[in-house]
Amino acid sequence: MLGIILLWVLGFVLVMLTIMTFYLRSVAKQYEADDEAGLDVEKKKQGITDAQNFVYTALVLVSVGMVAALYIYVKGTPWEAHLMEWLNIVIRLMHITFGIAWIGASFYFVFLENALNRTKDVRDELAGNLWAVHGGGFYYLEKYKVAPKTIPKHLHWFKYEAYFTWLSGFCLLFVVYYFNASALLIDKNVLDISALTGIGIGVGSFIVAWIIYDLLCKSPLIKKPIWFTLVGFFIAVGFAYFYSHVFSGRAAYIHFGAMLGSIMVANVFFVIIPAQKAMVNAARKGLPLNPQLGKNALNRSLHNNYFTLPVLFVMISNHFPSTFGYEQPWLILTIITLGTAGVKHYLNLKEKGQLSVWVLPVSVVILLAGAFISAPPKNPGACNTKIEFSEVNAIVQEKCVSCHSSKPTDDVYKAPPNGVVYDTPADIVAKKDLIMQRVVITKTMPLNNKTNITQKERDIIRCWIEQGASVK
Ligand code: HEC
Repeated sequence: MLGIILLWVLGFVLVMLTIMTFYLRSVAKQYEADDEAGLDVEKKKQGITDAQNFVYTALVLVSVGMVAALYIYVKGTPWEAHLMEWLNIVIRLMHITFGIAWIGASFYFVFLENALNRTKDVRDELAGNLWAVHGGGFYYLEKYKVAPKTIPKHLHWFKYEAYFTWLSGFCLLFVVYYFNASALLIDKNVLDISALTGIGIGVGSFIVAWIIYDLLCKSPLIKKPIWFTLVGFFIAVGFAYFYSHVFSGRAAYIHFGAMLGSIMVANVFFVIIPAQKAMVNAARKGLPLNPQLGKNALNRSLHNNYFTLPVLFVMISNHFPSTFGYEQPWLILTIITLGTAGVKHYLNLKEKGQLSVWVLPVSVVILLAGAFISAPPKNPGACNTKIEFSEVNAIVQEKCVSCHSSKPTDDVYKAPPNGVVYDTPADIVAKKDLIMQRVVITKTMPLNNKTNITQKERDIIRCWIEQGASVK
C-alpha cells in the first residue's frame, strides 16, 4: 500500500517537473533572443540555467524514488525478480551508451594528439592541425600550444559522459552484485563474509585504490614512465589478487574493472576538469598559464587511455566463465590486463607513426599464454564404468534444480536463471555442452557451489557426457 501511494505522489511530481522543463526552455529561448538583440541578460540567463539544472536533478531523483517505491510495492512477489531484471536492462544499456560516448571521445582525442601534423604549415601559436573526412564532410582541426588569445563563448566540455558512465556503473554494481550479494558477490568457498562486509570492502577498495594511484602520480616516479608503469602494474596485480581472495571469481573481475573505472573517472573529476577550468579562467583574465596543469591532465588522460581495454574486457568478462572460473582467477585477469593494455600501446605507437612492430606480437603472445594456462586438462581421467542416466539425473535434481527449474526453490532465484531448466531428461541432454563447460571444465556451476557438488559428482557428469549422454 505504501509503495502504491508513494508511486502516485512521485508520479504526480514527475509530471509537474516535466511540464516545468518546457516552461523553462521557452523562457531560456526568450533570453537567448534578447541576448542576440544586444540586451544585457547575462544574470537572467545564469538564473535560468541554474533553475534548469535544479529541475533536471530533481527529475533524476524523483525517477530513482519511483523505482524505490515500485520496489517496495513488488517486494516479496514474483515481480521482484522481474523488476530487478528490467532495472538491470535499463541501467546496463545506459552504462554502455555513456561508456561508448566516453571511451569513443577518449580514443578520438588520443588519436588526434597522436596523429596531429606538427610540422607542415603550422602557425606559431599552434601545436598542430589535422585534416579529416567523415560522414560525407571535410573537417579541419587545430590544436593550440596553450590557449587561444580569446576564449570562445561556446566551448565544448567533455565530462558528463565520464560521470554518467561511472554513476550508471555504480548503480549496476548495486543491482547485479550488491542487492544479491549472497548469490553473485560472495562465494563462501573463497571467503565466508557477510553481504554488508563484502559491500564495504568493495566500495572501500575503490577509494583506497584512488588514493594510492593519486599519490603515485604526485610522486617523483611520474617522471620515470617505465618505473611508474611497473610499480602501477604490480599494485594492480595486488588488487586483482586481493579481490580474487575475497569475492567470487566473477565479482572479483567486476571489482577490478570498477576499481580502474573509478580511477579513470576520478582522473576526469579531480584532475583533468579542474586543470582545464583553471586554464580557461587564467586565459579569460589574461593571466599566465601554468603549463604543468595541462601536462598533468594529459598524463592522466593517457593513463585512462591504457585502462580502457582492460576495463572493456572486464565489462564482458561475465560471459566467459573459463576466465573468472580458473583456479587462480587473478592470474588470468592480470594476463588479459597486460595483453590488452599492450595492444592499446601498439595502437598508440602506430598512430604516432612509430614502427614498434614487436609490441603487438608480444601482447598477443601474452594473451595466448592466458588461453593456454586456463585450458582444461587434456586427459581428465579415464571413465571405466558405464554411467547410467539415473545417476546423473539424481545429481542434477539434487544440485541444480533448486535454481534451474520452472519453479525454483532457491532463496535468491525465483525464476530459472538464463531460462535454463532441468525438469526433464530432454532438458538435460539439450544443455549437455553448456553443462560440460560450466560444471566440469570451469566449475562455475552450481553457482559458488551453493549446493556443494563434489568432484566425484562432476566426474560422473563428465563421463556420462563423454560416453554419449544417452538417457536410456
Ligand atoms: C544457486 C543457484 C544455481 C544453482 C544451484 C545452479 N545454477 Fe546454473 N546458473 C545459475 C545462474 C544465476 C546462472 C546465470 C549466470 C551465469 O551464467 O553465471 C546459471 C547459468 C547456468 C548455465 C549457463 C546458461 C547459459 O545460458 O549460458 C548452465 C549451463 C548452468 N547454469 C548449469 C547448472 C548445472 C548443471 C547446475 C547443477 C550442477 C547448476 N547450474 C546449478 C544459478 C544456479
